[in-house]
Amino acid sequence: MNNRLFRKKSVDQILRDSQEGTGLAKVLGVRDLVSLGIAAIVGAGIFSTIGLAAYNGGPAVSLLFVFVAFACVFTALSYAQFASTVPVSGSAYTYAYVAFGELFAWIIGWALVLEYAVSNMVVAISWSQYFVSMCSGFGLHIPKWLTMAPGYALDAQAKMLEVGVENLQGIEKVALQAYQTAPRIGDIPIIFDLPAGLITVLVTWLVYIGIKESQKASNLMVLIKIGVIVAVILGGIFFIKPENWTPFAPNGMGGVLSGIAAVFFAFIGFDSISTTAEECKNPQRDLPRAMIYCLVICAVLYVLITLVLTGMVHYSDLNVKDPLAYVFEYVGFDHMAGIISVTSVIAITSALLVFQLAQPRIWMTMSRDGLLWKKFARIHPKYKTPSYATIVTGFVVAIPSLFFKMDFFVDLTSVGTFFAFILVCGGVLYMDHSGLSKKSKFKVPYVNGKYLIGLGLVIALVLLWLYGQDALQEWRNESWLYILEHKSLTIIFWIVWIVLAVMGYKYNFSLLPVTGILVNLYLMTELGASNWIIFVIWLVLGLVIYFIYGYRHSKLNTGNISA
Ligand code: ALA
Repeated sequence: MNNRLFRKKSVDQILRDSQEGTGLAKVLGVRDLVSLGIAAIVGAGIFSTIGLAAYNGGPAVSLLFVFVAFACVFTALSYAQFASTVPVSGSAYTYAYVAFGELFAWIIGWALVLEYAVSNMVVAISWSQYFVSMCSGFGLHIPKWLTMAPGYALDAQAKMLEVGVENLQGIEKVALQAYQTAPRIGDIPIIFDLPAGLITVLVTWLVYIGIKESQKASNLMVLIKIGVIVAVILGGIFFIKPENWTPFAPNGMGGVLSGIAAVFFAFIGFDSISTTAEECKNPQRDLPRAMIYCLVICAVLYVLITLVLTGMVHYSDLNVKDPLAYVFEYVGFDHMAGIISVTSVIAITSALLVFQLAQPRIWMTMSRDGLLWKKFARIHPKYKTPSYATIVTGFVVAIPSLFFKMDFFVDLTSVGTFFAFILVCGGVLYMDHSGLSKKSKFKVPYVNGKYLIGLGLVIALVLLWLYGQDALQEWRNESWLYILEHKSLTIIFWIVWIVLAVMGYKYNFSLLPVTGILVNLYLMTELGASNWIIFVIWLVLGLVIYFIYGYRHSKLNTGNISA
């Protein structure tokens, strides 16, 4: 049983499989890939969730962007090494199949649904919010009951009954209107987010009819998007009041770190270009370059945008849905605010497009391996795209985005993505150890971590002792039960560091992937236990499906592939 669960695919086998009758068109070059990457990365995160992060953390959130960008660079290097070794569509899923075996591959493939499909629910809902406000800017008022998840309206109604209509704020008033004006079947109000569903259908159609067409649309949207962001930075500089940057971290470390999910969400997507490996002209050369390029470009833009936003407006005013447009409204530059509203809609569309492109390609690869039903690998004879998987992705994203609130999905996406990133960084250590790295045309720069991982641990503990007495006091005062309940994630983090220090000493681990694991794990622990619990439930559901179908139908099981 164990052997079967951890059966692995060889790189040669994976490359052979990917060449057998897939027929995907090889059209993408490095510029296309950078464009796809930026299209995926810059979206709902920087156009909306940055507002709340800045509100909680103040100008210091710009440093959080730097920190998270570093975590992503370590991960991107690891992705790049894998993509240059195993240039096929499955991304982290395929990498895990090579490094850790089938069970982990399935788990990663399942976690990636959170990164692509579930995050696209957030993006679709966010698109809808911008679209609705853009329409009202043009005097076109969509009925409220067609613009939001029923949960918002029901919450607003319940709150109104509790505290009275005069105590509802901003979005709650709109949600109450939706509740009151909705048509009804019996007593049940009909409320759903039509624009979110429609944009998902439209983008799915674009992805269905061909990657080249998707690429053309994406390139154009990226140009517009970058143009707007640069314009916000250059235009905003003149309105910066340096006194807004003091205090730099008004709510301390806690305030800054509460923005982790939002900030990380804004970076998610750089890895998605690895899923187009089979459609690249020269994946070994272009994928690593493209991933690093687009990550650096986005990190610089994000830090500058954060400094400009928090310099133009006091951080405490930034808890708004459309911060980039709002700051210009605030300083009385209404024209600019209008342009930004319109272009935000375009920007978010392109993020939606890339993830809608990536999810079916992962399912296609899993299906080829026998872990999912055969239909998921079907390629459209004319459009040369994974047609069935694309349509399923469309339904999977469109239906929840019609009916569910976005908040829940943001954290879940981040937990799942951190998890995938950690396994990819860990996979590079395995590649080094097993000699697989010799086949890599791009390698994560090697710095011997033999002593450095342990040294880093000692330094971290000394710093904790010197500067973290408050936190340590909590550990001393509370019961074991409390510590287990509230600190188990921190305990996991330190245990992993100790294990890596010992193994790193023994096997001369490469320092950068280890740093990637630790930084991602640290950020993951900051997301809180409840998100981990939901994530674990998600994984258990995935395992049930695996044991019902994939375990028995895996090609490594049915003998179509020699492991
Ligand atoms: N990074 C993507 C966004 O900001 C998910 O929308």
